[in-house]
Amino acid sequence: MYFKELRLPSNPLVNFEELLDQKKEYTYSNSDIDRYVNKDLLDILNSIGLRPRFFAWFGFIHQQQGVSTIHSDISYVNNVWQSVPVGINWEVTPGDMTFYWWDTHGDKVIWPDQTKPKRDIFGVHQGSVMNRDSSAYTCLDSFKPKTGVPFLARTDVPHQVIYNTNVDTRVAISLRFDNKDLPTWESAVKKFEPLYL
Ligand SMILES: [Fe+2]
Repeated sequence: MYFKELRLPSNPLVNFEELLDQKKEYTYSNSDIDRYVNKDLLDILNSIGLRPRFFAWFGFIHQQQGVSTIHSDISYVNNVWQSVPVGINWEVTPGDMTFYWWDTHGDKVIWPDQTKPKRDIFGVHQGSVMNRDSSAYTCLDSFKPKTGVPFLARTDVPHQVIYNTNVDTRVAISLRFDNKDLPTWESAVKKFEPLYL
C-alpha cells in the first residue's frame, strides 16, 4: 500500500489570499501553520497526537501541465538527513493529477548538496538530478486523487506527480510531520487508521 484516502476537511486552507499574494509557485512554512491551516484540521490531528511540522503549498497559477522529478523525500534537521516517509496531500482545485511510485532499483541515487541553503524538504533523485523519465522503471502503484479528498502518500519510495489541468490553476497542499512522531510509513498507516475514509 502506498496511499490511503482520509476523512479530513476538504479544504484546510485559511488566509489563502496571502499565499496567492506571495506569487510563488510553492511556499513552505514551518512557523505559521496555524495561520494557513484551519483549526478543524489541527484539532483532528491533535486528537491522534500529531502536530504538523510544516506545510507546502503548490500553486501553479499559469501552468497547465507539470511533471515532477522522480525522487524520494528527505529533510535536513539538526544537521542530519531524515527520511520523510509520509505526507497528507490535498488537490484543492479540480484537475487531472496522478501520483506514481516507481521501482528504481539499480539506478544511481543522487543526494542533495548539504551546502545549499536549507529548505524543509529535499529530494533524493534517481539517475540524474532532473530525471523525469520513468521508462526504465517498473510502476509499483499509481493513484488519481479526487478533488478535495485528502490522502496519505508514501514519500520515502521514489515517486512522481504528473499534473494536467484545463483551468490554468492548480492549488495543492501537503502537510508533513516530525520524523520522531511518524518515523516510518508503517507507523503512519497505523496512526491514521481512525481517519480512513
Ligand atoms: Fe515528494
